Amino acid sequence: MDYIFLRDAKDYLNKTVVLKGWAFNFRSSGNIYFLQFRDGTGEVQGIISKKEVSPESWEECQKITLETSVEITGKIYEEKRSPYGIEMSVENLKIIQLAQEYPIGKKEHGTDFLMDNRHLWIRSSRQASILKVRNEIVWAIRSFFRQEGFILTDSPILTPTSCEGTTNLFETEYFGEKAYLSQSGQLYIEALIYSLGKVYDFGPTFRAEKSKTRRHLTEFWMMDAEAAFVEHEENMKTQEKLVSYIVAQVLKNCEKELKILERDLEPLRKIVPPFPKISYSEAIKILQKNGVEAKEGDDFGGDEETIISKQFDKPVFIEKYPAKIKAFYMQPDPKNPDLVLNDDLIAPEGFGEIIGGSQRIDDLETLEKKLKEFKLKPEPFQWYLDLRRYGSVPHSGFGIGLERTVAWLCGLSHIRETIPFPRLINRLKP
Ligand code: 4AD
Ligand code: MG
Repeated sequence: MDYIFLRDAKDYLNKTVVLKGWAFNFRSSGNIYFLQFRDGTGEVQGIISKKEVSPESWEECQKITLETSVEITGKIYEEKRSPYGIEMSVENLKIIQLAQEYPIGKKEHGTDFLMDNRHLWIRSSRQASILKVRNEIVWAIRSFFRQEGFILTDSPILTPTSCEGTTNLFETEYFGEKAYLSQSGQLYIEALIYSLGKVYDFGPTFRAEKSKTRRHLTEFWMMDAEAAFVEHEENMKTQEKLVSYIVAQVLKNCEKELKILERDLEPLRKIVPPFPKISYSEAIKILQKNGVEAKEGDDFGGDEETIISKQFDKPVFIEKYPAKIKAFYMQPDPKNPDLVLNDDLIAPEGFGEIIGGSQRIDDLETLEKKLKEFKLKPEPFQWYLDLRRYGSVPHSGFGIGLERTVAWLCGLSHIRETIPFPRLINRLKP
């Protein structure tokens, strides 16, 4: 008899198979016991009839508690009326481990309680659905870049310098020296374009975000992409194509999960190129028109991003920010050197910034001047300056935040549910 996973059940209809998994719901009705059962790849209802199973199996099923692990043997068949499309008439049932009283029940629990029990909470169908959408997004990003000829590479996590400013650096001691947890792999993949042309990385990044928000984790996953001979406009084209591809893949492959999450699909179906594009100055004007006291030189927080995003039904590019409020490596706008050739891509429906990108400074002198202006010691950046000494070329890239993208596509108001074990200013456990 075959032991199978429920995802393969359709290949075994009307056959007797073994399933192993967990009880998530059950009820008795006289001589019939209904067991709702999941194995991580699917769900099924098992029907246990007292008349048809051994006395041992019948006795076993009476003991089942929430989250008890069980092995069931029986015939699976199509059942159109079931939400799972199949049922099993159980011939034999064996408890693997009888679960103690499960702390998460059907009643409403507070967020702190659920977060403290995150290791158990992730078993719920809602949480599992989010993690499946996350998986789909990761694969979409990887397959997009593979199709586009980008090479996957890896950036270090322990680094001697900052990439995105020094205010939120995680510092650690490194054999008598200072090291920092990476905020972005960008600087390192810039080096790789001279070897591989078009590259991307995908890894954990760290920022000691000191305020509580719905959009910031202290540990999150970022995909950085970088390409030689690509300038600002083309850089945005790649971002637009990538984001449209991710949305299409999620719509195609995560129908069931999006339904469990009750995600409205209409706004997602609109996500096709081209995306609207506004300048930083135009963004300021939009804010002012909406009663926000914004002025040139201000950076945008979550509330501002939400107001801007609500003006559009697709992601919107905000480009050409003042150089002063962005990172040191961004290429000045030749038309106005106080601005930089950068873009932030803001998700629709108020889900915030999902991508930050820019053309990079490719000229040695300009970059040296910028390091000074940003009060960054040039010594640890010598290797990065070398890239401007030996065959420098125009190049651009961007970074997409995985968790922000998950929150948007799943329609989650808080980023804490987008990653299995979130790290937040007030949470390091479990
Ligand atoms: O805009 P950021 O800071 O850009 C960079 O780090 C560039 N070096 C990327 C590059 O050009 N290769 O971060 C990129 C994205 C943001 O748009 C956002 O989606 C996400 O990373 N992000 C965060 N996500 C969750 N929690 C945080 N604290 C985040 N900070 C940034
Ligand atoms: Mg940014």
